[in-house]
Parts: sequence; C-alpha cells; structure tokens
Amino acid sequence: MNPAQYRVRFFCDVFRTILLPVLVLSATLRFFGRRLGLFTIPVHLVFVVCWAGIRGAILKYIQDREAERLGAKPIPRVVGKWPGNIDVLLKMLKAFKTSYVGDVYLKLFEEYGCTTLNTRILWSDMIITMDQEHSKFVLATGFSHFWRGRSQKERMETFLGEGIFNRDDDIWKMHRGMARPFFARERIADFEIFERNTARTLALLSASEAAHQPSEAQDIFARFTIDAASEFLFGKNLDTLSSALPIPQKGPMGPKGSATLDEWGSFTCAFEMAQQNITARGRMGELWPLFELFSDKNKPHVQVVQKWLDPLVQRALQDKAISQKAGICHGIADKTFLQHLVDSTDDPILIRDQLLSMLLASRDTTACVLTYITYFMATYPHVAERLRAEVLENCGPSAPPTYERIKNLKYMRAVINETLRLFPPVPLNVRETRTSPCLLPPSDPTYPTEDRRPLYMPGNTTIMYVPLLMQRNKALWGPDAEDFDPDRWVDPARIAKFVANPAMFAPFSAGPRICVGQNYAYNETSYFLVRLLQHFDRFTLAPEVQPEGSLPPPGWTERDGRQAIEKIWPAAAMTLYIKGGLWVRFHQANS
Ligand code: HEM
Ligand SMILES: *[C@@H]1O[C@H](CO)[C@@H](O)[C@H](O)[C@H]1NC(C)=O
Ligand SMILES: *[C@@H]1O[C@H](CO)[C@@H](O)[C@H](O)[C@H]1NC(C)=O
Ligand SMILES: *[C@@H]1O[C@H](CO)[C@@H](O)[C@H](O)[C@H]1NC(C)=O
Ligand SMILES: *[C@@H]1O[C@H](CO)[C@@H](O)[C@H](O)[C@H]1NC(C)=O
Repeated sequence: MNPAQYRVRFFCDVFRTILLPVLVLSATLRFFGRRLGLFTIPVHLVFVVCWAGIRGAILKYIQDREAERLGAKPIPRVVGKWPGNIDVLLKMLKAFKTSYVGDVYLKLFEEYGCTTLNTRILWSDMIITMDQEHSKFVLATGFSHFWRGRSQKERMETFLGEGIFNRDDDIWKMHRGMARPFFARERIADFEIFERNTARTLALLSASEAAHQPSEAQDIFARFTIDAASEFLFGKNLDTLSSALPIPQKGPMGPKGSATLDEWGSFTCAFEMAQQNITARGRMGELWPLFELFSDKNKPHVQVVQKWLDPLVQRALQDKAISQKAGICHGIADKTFLQHLVDSTDDPILIRDQLLSMLLASRDTTACVLTYITYFMATYPHVAERLRAEVLENCGPSAPPTYERIKNLKYMRAVINETLRLFPPVPLNVRETRTSPCLLPPSDPTYPTEDRRPLYMPGNTTIMYVPLLMQRNKALWGPDAEDFDPDRWVDPARIAKFVANPAMFAPFSAGPRICVGQNYAYNETSYFLVRLLQHFDRFTLAPEVQPEGSLPPPGWTERDGRQAIEKIWPAAAMTLYIKGGLWVRFHQANS
C-alpha cells in the first residue's frame, strides 16, 4: 500500500460528495439558462448537503430492505440534530479533550439504551459496540467476515507499515507463524532478562526514595519493559533505564507522561506522538486527510523511530551474512527474535516494521498493567498488604522467584486480572467488514429485548469494539462492576459468572488474533511484582508533583462510578496510559 494513497482516496471522496453534485447543479442551471447571482454559493451548499442526505437515505433504504430479506434488523442509528450528525461529531471531538476514557461512547449507549450503535457521522455507517456477543463475533466466531480494514491501515501505514498490527491474510499469517514458536517454547533465558532489568529498576526506585523524592512510575515501567523487550527481541539492551529520569515538577508534560529532553526522551516522545497522531486521525474518521493534504504529520515522528531501528536491522543482516559464510547455524532456542526474523527474510523494511510492532506490543501494554496495579496498591493499601503477604509466604523475602512459585500466587493473579478488567491496556480497537455484509448474532442475552433478530452489518464498514466498557458492564459483572475488587476472581460464585461466559473478559483479545505475548506478559508482570513487593511495602501517590493539567478535572466528582473517585486521569492513545504519568512514593520495607 502506498503511504500517500490517503490523498487519492480523500480526493475521490471529495469528488463524489462535493464536486459531483456541484457539477451536476451547474450543468443543470446552465442547461436551463438560469443564473443565481448572489445565491450561487448558498444554493450549491444546500444542494451538496441534500445530495449527501438523499444518497445516505437511499443507501439506508437499500440496507433496511436487505436486512428484512435476511430476517435481520438494522443496527440502531444515532439521530443527531444537524444534517449528517455533525453536531454529534463536534460534541464527541470536544468531549474527548476533557472526558473520562470511554465516556463519550458510554453516554451514547446509555442515551439509546443499547450496546451496539451506528453513529452515522456524515451519513456513513460507523458501528460502535460494547456488546460481548458482538465483540466475540468480530474477533472469533465471525472472524472471516472481518479484517483490520482499509481505513485503519490508511491511518497507521506510515507508522506500523508491514508489521503484524497493520496486515491481514498472508502477511499477517507469516508474521504470526514466525512469532508463535518463539513464545511457545520453554525460555529460562526470559527469567534472567526479567531479573537483570527488574534489579536495575528497583535500584532507581530505591535511590529516589533515599532522596525523599517520588518516582514517575509509568515512565520507569515503560523503560523496564522496553529494556527487557529489547534484550529479548534484539539481544541488545537499549538501556533506557540509564538515561535521565523525569524530575518532579521540572519536566514538561510529554505526549503521554512526564517528558525528558535527552535522546531517550526524543525516541519515546516520537513513539508516543505517533500514537497520539494516529488516535487523533481515528477520531476524525474519514476526514483526517483534510488536515494533512500537504504533509503527513506523522512523518517527523516516524523518522526518529526509524533512525533508531535501522542500524539494528542492518547489523543483524550483516551478522547473518557472516554466520552464513562461516557455516554457523543457530537453532530457535538460542536465537533472538531479530535473528529469527533475519533468517526468514532479507527484506529490511519488513524486519524493521515487525520489530517496531513487537516493541509497541510489549512496551506499552505491560507497562500499563504495572502502572495501574501500582495505582491500585496506592489507593487500596489492604490489597498491597495482602499481595505482599502472599509473596513473602511463597517466595520468601529476597530470593528471585521461580516459575513454580509464581504459579502459586493466586491472589496476585486475581489482582492482575482485576486490573486488566478495569483498565485493559488496549481499551478499544477497530475492525472492518470485508466487502460483503454479515449478520451480528442477537444482542447480549443479559439485555432484555423483545426482538431477538440478528443485526445487519453492512459491508466495507468499520466497527469499533470497546473492551473497557464491556468489562465494566453492570449487566455482565453485577452492580459493583466499577469497583476494584480482586476477590471477584477468587470468590467461586462470582468466578462462575466468568467461567460461564468467558468472552466478557478479553484484555488480550480473542480468536485467531489473540495476543501472542499473553503468557510472557503474565510472567513478566508477576516476576516484577514479586521483586517489587519484596523491597517495598507501601505506595503513596504524590499528586502535588503531577504536571499541571494532569489531575482529574473537578467536574468528574459529580459523575458516578469510577469517574467520581479516580485520583488520576486515564487516557487512551492506541494503548491506555495515565495523563502526566503516575508520580508515586515507594516506601522501602523494613523486614
Ligand atoms: C498485559 C500485556 C498485554 C496486553 C493486555 C496485550 C493485549 C493485546 C491485544 C488486545 C491484542 C490484539 C490487538 C489487535 O488485534 O488489534 C494483542 C496482540 C498482540 N500482542 Fe499483546 N498484549 C500484551 C503483551 C504483549 C507482549 C509482552 C507481547 C510480546 C512480547 C505481545 C505481542 C502481541 C502481538 C505480536 C500481537 C499481534 C497478534 C496478531 O495480530 O495476530 N503482547 N495484544
Ligand atoms: C501530530 O504531530 C504533529 C507534528 O508532526 C504535532 O504538531 C501534533 O500536535 C500531533 N498531534 C497530536 C494529536 O499529537
Ligand atoms: C485470569 O484471567 C484468565 C483469562 O485471561 C483466566 O484464564 C484465569 O483463570 C484468571 N485468573 C484468575 C486467578 O482468576
Ligand atoms: C466494498 O468495496 C469494494 C471495493 O471498493 C466493492 O467492490 C464492494 O462492492 C463494496 N461492497 C459493498 C457492500 O459496498
Ligand atoms: C512463562 O514461564 C514458564 C516457566 O519458565 C514457561 O514455561 C512459559 O513458557 C513462560 N511463558 C512465556 C511465554 O514466556
């Protein structure tokens, strides 16, 4: 796919929706010899809007007839006040800036009393869902009807290129086939990597404490995960833990957390900026190229990221050439992921893009869980206490944990699950139907609806599913769905609900594209937490040093659910993060 293709697509859309009706009207007027004088522009404008409205109405009529024929019903449509639901779009764009994560969509679902909706912004179909039956269909049972889709590819092409997150069908299968064996085998080496990088991270946290300073946990955890991932992926530690850390109250606010201004800072900054830009594009729907007609705004960020990765790829290709000459051949057990990639292709672009995807997959997600667990340990001290007691009982006060020991940490697993439930690192995601329409199964059975017909899902249409809302849905999880309560995963009665209906919890996605790093992530998270809790016994938030504008806005306390009690500002840009980072004091344990 040519990265600049978005301009061609956009021009075709503009032609179809604006130029074509204008040409038709002008030609008609000329034919009848009419002149509109002063009214020329307003009349053309009204005509363009009517044209779009009529075209939309005709398509809607055809779809409804087709749905009827198939024994299905249309997906409920949002009906705004202005033509093309422009008021809804503007309201959403404004609300994204100040609202709680997911709230913009939740409000729509509440207003229409359903869990799947067609927003019909600018007369085109755009489906949003928090329904677990529909999410399951998109990801697993109806997988073959969907792909990542044209519009998502268009937004991410310059950033993720040919990587696994941006491809379907054969290239995706190739990537997945290559990655899977890498995660399936026994990897003692992983634990050694976790240990080295955990030790360095804890040393930094201890040093801050000794200096009576809070630490920016989100930033440090992201360094931990990227350093560990780079060792695991390239066999070379990027050593970001050694670069300057953000200083309380001194640094500017970065795109996601608290920024630093050194080389590492500029790489993360670019990496995060690129994600922010892609998210901003997503919110504008098909209109985003309008603001990037002359320059791809993501290009400068992508160049910084690529400048970082290219030398690694070049070196790996050279090493491969040398090994081949010397007749050395590595088995999969002692190869890094990069060596494994280089052995299967010589295409430097493909290798670079796949590495970037793996970095993205392993850095932000795992750092996100660790950050939110720390947030919960700070706000629910009894949870931290109970976790620590379990760690000390099973793993002792100082020895590195083995996998056997980690497996016994039932409460820790419950805390990890509960955190992934309330704050799934990938809070929302998109797919698109392939060229033909399909039927979504009847809506979630826990919702009382009279009419259990399936829903008609048009072809070539985007569907956004929102695990964050699904995993907080009271109809599925009970009235306390928004409470942080790890015992939900221990208590047999409540676990039974989840066992009967496992699709209601999908932080790692589901179906053929389920996360390949799931076990690795549980291993890494648990390992880190064991070591953390062996060293520290209390965690306290330091709101006084959060960068300006990063604390929850005052209006939130008037809403209900988590929003009213949140001490931090959860936000999403491809992955979930905490605005301004998480400033925390880690208190050394005495025993
Ligand atoms: C708590 C940590 C993690 C969470 C919550 C998580 C979540 C997810 C989710 C939701 C997807 C589906 C994305 C989509 O289909 O658009 C995914 C895919 C993926 N994840 Fe993870 N992930 C985590 C950690 C990791 C780690 C540590 C790695 C690798 C080292 C990894 C590698 C991948 C890869 C390669 C895919 C793409 C799979 C495909 O498209 O076939 N993930 N992950
Ligand atoms: C996208 O990147 C441009 C610079 O290339 C920057 O000015 C802009 O603020 C970014 N947008 C977002 C939403 O981060
Ligand atoms: C955590 O969730 C996973 C599904 O991702 C499930 O298999 C596991 O049983 C859960 N663990 C606990 C302790 O509930
Ligand atoms: C979807 O798009 C493809 C290619 O643009 C087209 O051939 C097909 O007819 C479209 N399908 C629907 C249902 O509009
Ligand atoms: C997690 O650790 C155990 C023990 O080493 C191992 O059997 C399992 O394969 C690991 N999973 C991953 C994906 O690293």
